[in-house]
Amino acid sequence: MRIVLVGPPGAGKGTQAAYLAENLSIPHISTGDLFRANISQGTPLGKQAQEYMRAGQLVPDEVTIGMAEDRMNQPDAAGGFLLDGFPRNLAQAEALDGYLREHDLSLDAVLDLEVPEAEVVKRIAGRRTCRNDSAHTFHVEYKKPEAEGVCDECGGELYQREDDSEETVRKRLEVYHRETEPIIDYYKSKGLVVTISALGKVNEVTQRAMDALAAKA
Ligand code: AP5
Ligand code: ZN
Repeated sequence: MRIVLVGPPGAGKGTQAAYLAENLSIPHISTGDLFRANISQGTPLGKQAQEYMRAGQLVPDEVTIGMAEDRMNQPDAAGGFLLDGFPRNLAQAEALDGYLREHDLSLDAVLDLEVPEAEVVKRIAGRRTCRNDSAHTFHVEYKKPEAEGVCDECGGELYQREDDSEETVRKRLEVYHRETEPIIDYYKSKGLVVTISALGKVNEVTQRAMDALAAKA
């Protein structure tokens, strides 16, 4: 399957993507995780992305689209993928369409995670992220690691993401409404969108997502 996951910052895209990708045996491709890995390795791409991310703004399309395409070209993505955080504006959605057309592929579904803003703020305020791999995320109340401050998956140190400050989260939400929400209508016009509530326990949301995807397929 080829799936796009959309939803505001803190909706639980990364959390759900990890379970969905495993259940569906497809790779989880997160542009946010790819950027953070490049930043921690000090690559030129990471240097280009860092200032935008710190400010809660989108990294320019010319950087993002190339990086996403390179990742989709990897052998493990040949049978399908779950995109998380890409596309994030209309230009990226059109670029993805072009890429898929060129490779004679198509999307199966766009899974839209709906969650009230007050919940998003609580989720982001309590999120803790692993220094080794930003796909390893926890929450001080809702998904506590076994040992405080230590990643269950790899033993890495947990920290608070620099763009999770209240001011930057507000900016990211504003960017989401202005730039990203329009892609939901774009995909609705193609009949691809399934919207689910992202409220409730993590495993309840995963089940809801699996049911919605099965109904769509
Ligand atoms: P990115 O990393 O994509 O961030 P985001 O979209 O803002 O999403 P988040 O990672 O904040 O949240 P999430 O929805 O994954 O939630 P999570 O599962 O962690 O992007 C960061 C930046 O990179 C952007 O601002 C931009 O600068 C740049 N960027 C990335 N892609 C780009 C693109 N395509 N173009 C341009 N720029 C791009 O969950 C949040 C918390 O809630 C966690 O603590 C979790 O444990 C908890 N939680 C999850 N589910 C539940 C639940 N059901 N109940 C209770 N708690 C829960
Ligand atoms: Zn880890």
